[in-house]
Formats: sequence, C-alpha cells, structure tokens
Amino acid sequence: MLKTLSLTFFRNFENRVFEFQGGLNIIIGKNGSGKTNLLESIAYLSFPRSFRGVLDSDLVMWGEDFFRIEGLYQDDVEHMIKCFYSSHNRVKKIHVNEKKVDRLSKLFFLFPTLVSTDRDQDIVDGPPEKRRSLFDKLISLVDMHYYRTLIDYRKAIENKNVLLKEKRLEEVKYWNREIEKLSTYIITKRTEFLKEITMTFDLKSGVLLNGKKADIRYFKKIDIEEGILDSKLEEELEFGFSIYGPHRDRFEFYIEGRPAKAAASEAEKRMMLLSLYFAFMERFEKDKDKKPVLILDEPLSILDDERIEALLGQLESQVFITTPRWSLQYEANLIEL
Ligand SMILES: Nc1ncnc2c1ncn2[C@@H]1O[C@H](COP(=O)(O)OP(=O)(O)OP(=O)(O)O)[C@@H](O)[C@H]1O
Ligand SMILES: [Mg+2]
Repeated sequence: MLKTLSLTFFRNFENRVFEFQGGLNIIIGKNGSGKTNLLESIAYLSFPRSFRGVLDSDLVMWGEDFFRIEGLYQDDVEHMIKCFYSSHNRVKKIHVNEKKVDRLSKLFFLFPTLVSTDRDQDIVDGPPEKRRSLFDKLISLVDMHYYRTLIDYRKAIENKNVLLKEKRLEEVKYWNREIEKLSTYIITKRTEFLKEITMTFDLKSGVLLNGKKADIRYFKKIDIEEGILDSKLEEELEFGFSIYGPHRDRFEFYIEGRPAKAAASEAEKRMMLLSLYFAFMERFEKDKDKKPVLILDEPLSILDDERIEALLGQLESQVFITTPRWSLQYEANLIEL
C-alpha cells in the first residue's frame, strides 16, 4: 500500500502531504479541485508518465520550473519512491530509497497500479491498439520475459519495415525467422493469460454486470509456424511494412455473445474493464504476493446504487476513488481537497 504522498509544485498542489490507508481511500472535491491530479501523481510513482497522456512539463505547477512526488510504499518493507522533474533542463530523476533508478519500467514492478478512468469505455470500444497495449501491459506485469520479448519484437518489426521499404529480401527473411520465434512466445503467453483469468473474469463480471455474461476473445492475425511470414512477403512488400504477426492481433470484449462496441452500455463497458482488472489482480497476486493498487477516477457517477454496492463489495486491495460527493456508509479514509 501507499502510505504517504508528498507533492511539490505538482499541477495545482503547491506543497501538500497526504496519508492513506490500506483499504478504501475516497478523494472528495469540487470540479477542478485536483482530484484527478492527485490520482495522476499516485500513478506517476508506478509508471512515470501522465495517464492523461500529457507532457511532464504540463504537470509542473504553472509559473514553477519543477515538480516533485514522494511516496512511501510498503510491501514487505518500506520503499521511498521519489520522482523529480525539472522543466528547466527537461530532466526526470527517479530514486527508490535514495538509489537512482535507471530503467523507469522497474517502478511498476515495485509499485504496481491499475488506473481506470472514463476513458476506459474507449479502451473497450475504441481501436484495437488500445486493448492490445492494455493486455501487453498486464501480461508484462506478471511476466518480465514477455515484456522483454515485446521490446525485441518491436525492434525486429522496425528493422523489418526498413528492409521492406528498401526491398532487401534476404535480410527481411532473416528477420522473419526472428519474428516467428518471438511471435510464438507472445501468442502462447497471450493465450495462456486469457485462460488463466477467465474464471475470475466470469465471476467478477457476473456480479458487476448484474448477471449479464461478458467474455474476452483473442483473435490472431496469423497462426505462426516456421516460414509462414516468407509466404506473405509479396503482400508485405506491396504495403511497404509488416502487416502479419501479433502486433496486429486483437482482443475483443463481448457481452451476451455480442461485440461490446455495439451492444454494451457505457457503465457496462467500464464494468467489463474493471472485471478484467480484478481478474488480473488475482493472477498477479498468485506469484507476486501483492495486489496492485487500484486507482479509479470517478467510477461512481455513472453507476446506479446497486452497481456501486456491487463494485465496492469487490474491492480487496488498496483503492483510490475520486468523487465530488460521498454519503455512503462504507469504512473509508476520506480525503477532502
Ligand atoms: N500545471 C498546472 N498548474 C496549476 N494548476 C493546474 C495545472 N494543471 C491543471 N491545473 C488545475 O487543475 C485543475 C484540474 O484538476 P483536476 O483535473 O484534478 O480536477 P478534478 O478535481 O478532477 O475535477 P473534475 O471533478 O472536473 O474531474 C484545473 O482546473 C487547473 O486549474
Ligand atoms: Mg477529475
């Protein structure tokens, strides 16, 4: 759990210290009071980039030239995570227990978080890249090797794309072998992961969707076997870039057997993604022995009372929830902005 958080010149927080508890933390405040900003700073300690997709320089309080976020995270022991950004020289410095962290990705293995915002609907019904990158992130969190394989895979695809444009066929074929090897691992892991989370996903989505049946399906762009990519060479040459392989695979959400994009309500889309998060958390806990911290930006505003109760009843790890008002009789740490 994240025990304390201290913000300096982060967005609208000039200098502020927060204390949190292990279960439910409710952040209450008016529109524009900084609720989402606070969540953004928490998530930054786990993945040092804004979940709203803005530049680091946008996170610096207007008129200042740096921000600092310090969080005390506890698993078996305490870890002091410090993030510092200076817009003066655009330098980002991360320290854990006073030790410099070079690879930013290390943070999310130390302090895993899952963020859910009203953009989730977009993940469920938007372009396939969004879902693919979400699944890639989730699988990476339980499998470091998957993460490295993805990086190698992306590099291999980049190399291949350059060679395709220059029509250097022999070299393309060399990369095809590499890509096939990496693809086999990626596809196997994606299939495995989906299988592993299915039971919990069914359970959670059953509760959150009031008995409606949701499922997630994985569609491979191509079944990988040795030499298969060479057989697509002509087509790929025509396109000028690589169009076959797991970078084109799709994950799709379904409700009652129909594509969620066409059939699910807005709240249902959000609940489906949360069900995935809950299922993931259980899978994560199995070998990491800790549950990711859940960060939910205004999940309640679109939910009816029964859904709110269903959702709050599912929470097990440390959770941060923002809301403009709070009148529920739940044991929670209330933080008023
Ligand atoms: N870099 C910055 N420096 C100072 N203030 C900022 C900066 N960036 C954003 N803000 C302020 O933060 C406010 C937005 O905060 P935030 O998005 O956290 O609000 P919120 O409490 O989540 O509101 P809502 O209920 O509408 O979602 C803006 O109104 C703006 O005044
Ligand atoms: Mg907000």
